[in-house]
Amino acid sequence: MNKIKIAVAGLGRIGKIHLKNLCRNFPELQVVAVMDLLDESKAIADEFNIPIFVKTFDELLAVPELDAVVICSPTDTHANYVVQAAKAGKQIFCEKPLDLSLERVKEVLEIVKESGVKLMLGFNRRFDPEFKKIKQLVLNDAIGDPQIVKITSRDPGPPPVSYIKVSGGMFLDMTIHDFDMARYISGKQVKEVFAKGAVMVDPEIGKAGDIDTAVITLTFEDNTFAVIDNCRKAVYGYDQRLEVFGSKGMAQAENNFPNNHKLYTEAGVSSDLPLHFFLERYDASYNQEVREFVDALVSGSEMPVDGKDGLLSIAIGLAAKKSVEENRPVQMSEILG
Ligand SMILES: NC(=O)c1ccc[n+]([C@@H]2O[C@H](COP(=O)([O-])OP(=O)(O)OC[C@H]3O[C@@H](n4cnc5c(N)ncnc54)[C@H](O)[C@@H]3O)[C@@H](O)[C@H]2O)c1
Repeated sequence: MNKIKIAVAGLGRIGKIHLKNLCRNFPELQVVAVMDLLDESKAIADEFNIPIFVKTFDELLAVPELDAVVICSPTDTHANYVVQAAKAGKQIFCEKPLDLSLERVKEVLEIVKESGVKLMLGFNRRFDPEFKKIKQLVLNDAIGDPQIVKITSRDPGPPPVSYIKVSGGMFLDMTIHDFDMARYISGKQVKEVFAKGAVMVDPEIGKAGDIDTAVITLTFEDNTFAVIDNCRKAVYGYDQRLEVFGSKGMAQAENNFPNNHKLYTEAGVSSDLPLHFFLERYDASYNQEVREFVDALVSGSEMPVDGKDGLLSIAIGLAAKKSVEENRPVQMSEILG
């Protein structure tokens, strides 16, 4: 069988992770080209023996016999690149979020649909081994009907304010993963969003027009709940926990640690801090999401996270933003029309 020919656009934090996985763990494909605006990124292409390094997306799409693209460039490039790739007939994996405007996302998805190519969005947490096990427990009816999904999602530290200014705000940049997780783990659709947000970490984040701490209550269509708490700074590291409480019990995923040992003394019990941030904590999930993207390409099956998932997570984020601004519960119908 011919190898699938893939290209990667954007070689920053997440682009390098995907490139490493694609090059090392997938004998059925070949990374034929990479693209980045920066000259120094050519060194990354050389490190992985990628034969073609280009600096524009047009040049990337012109690479002969290219089957698929993995888009890891900044958020404000995603919509245009997805449209260009779809029109060129390439299969697409795109990092989240697709865009910050719901109207633009709808336009893009329409073009993707017309083109007939497949699009997968990078909601990697669905592919985390622990969270997958919780999902399986829910599907197996081990906890009965989910009544409360509880997600704790706190970063070890905030990104630079320059990043925050163009990120779309905490809900569309950070909580978007939690909105997707709430939908995925419950298998339900959100009908109402009530969010409270504040600036508790850094006043500069507030001056940039964003919040750094939030509590969000989602109400699903069957009147069950999800509760999400976020903070841009947890002094003890990346805090990523998930719990599903249901009529027959509860399933819980605790933080992942670099090791399992604990020290017990008369002063107390101690252990190492949780894995520091997303690159360490979600390492396995990044490989697995690409595994499932490639499997779907080979088998022709549906993508495990599709454009509609991307659209709905953005819509929930916009509802949360509106809820904070107007200090009231917001119906998803107000956002989705
Ligand atoms: N799924 C996840 O866990 C996850 C984690 C981090 C980032 N992301 C998403 O991935 C995207 C990239 O984030 P990052 O943290 O890797 O950013 P980054 O700033 O580390 O890297 C971005 C890279 O893109 C390059 N670039 C800039 N403009 C470009 C253009 N027009 N075309 C192609 N490349 C361009 C930059 O030179 C840089 O190498 C963002 O949309 C972000 O939301 C997802």
